[in-house]
Amino acid sequence: MTTEIKTVAVCGAGGTMGAGIAIVAARAGYRTIAYDVAQEGLNRALKQTDGFFSKSVERGKLSQEEKDAALSRLEVTTVLEDAAQADLVIEAVFEKLEVKQDLFGRLNAICPEHTIFASNTSTLSITEIASGCGREDRVVGMHFCLPAQLMKLIEMSPGLNTDDAVFKAAWDWTLAAGQTPVETQDKPGFILNALLVPFNNDVIRAVEAGVATAADIDKAIKTGLGYKMGPCELIDLIGLDTQVRLCEAFYPITHDPRAATPPLLRRMVAAGHLGRKAGRGFYEYSGNAMFGG
Ligand SMILES: NC(=O)c1ccc[n+]([C@@H]2O[C@H](COP(=O)([O-])OP(=O)(O)OC[C@H]3O[C@@H](n4cnc5c(N)ncnc54)[C@H](O)[C@@H]3O)[C@@H](O)[C@H]2O)c1
Repeated sequence: MTTEIKTVAVCGAGGTMGAGIAIVAARAGYRTIAYDVAQEGLNRALKQTDGFFSKSVERGKLSQEEKDAALSRLEVTTVLEDAAQADLVIEAVFEKLEVKQDLFGRLNAICPEHTIFASNTSTLSITEIASGCGREDRVVGMHFCLPAQLMKLIEMSPGLNTDDAVFKAAWDWTLAAGQTPVETQDKPGFILNALLVPFNNDVIRAVEAGVATAADIDKAIKTGLGYKMGPCELIDLIGLDTQVRLCEAFYPITHDPRAATPPLLRRMVAAGHLGRKAGRGFYEYSGNAMFGG
């Protein structure tokens, strides 16, 4: 069965990742159905999306007509049945196996047979998410990087039951959407997080041990290694609570002590210092506008 992708549904489009993925799809010319259970999140995402596209126009990356066209391709909804019009559904809902399995099961009942399901999970198994949904052969891993509207990389992973042609169709869609896919196994953390989670924890332990301040560690990494962003800036962007969840997903599987949650991270999360989204993490922030344009 071949799938021509014209319409994309993004589930969890009121969230951090879903909002960015919806921008990627709409900007690339696809009719985009942005679905979320929470209208408030969708309203916030729409406002941020308009602001993001306006910045793109200011910076000469989009014309006003292209901005208007991209926004006109974006529809928001809290009605799951609207996603039944999609050829490709990308889910970016909460990182909980039962939530994702339940969503794909319900989507399976309402979507046409050809519709491909993709999961943006960071830590869960694609094979397990697909298990029992009724179209295990049409589910792929499609892991975008934060912020999705600016980062080109997508880690693509097939589940054990994924049909090769379906994987290729999803891969080709990422290229058509202007992204850069890499193929990786269905393993927790895929490539980037598997390497980054222990490294970020090393950095947090170095801050805790007083090796240097967060700012000086970031300065050293950026200046000495040529990274665009320091690790503490990156952890603030990812979210300190998300870093805890990543540790909790990896450590029981890998038993790598570097993947265990650092005590300072736990304390900062308990104090509400969750990073950019909370206005405070290793640094302090004002405003919660989307990045770039
Ligand atoms: N934050 C990151 O850095 C990052 C990076 C790559 C991938 N991811 C993955 O993306 C997914 C979402 O993460 P996030 O950080 O955007 O989370 P988030 O909490 O910001 O957003 C999740 C959204 O999903 C919605 N939602 C929850 N259950 C739903 C359901 N059943 N149907 C429809 N909408 C539902 C919520 O209302 C919320 O708007 C997770 O799987 C996460 O692992 C996150």
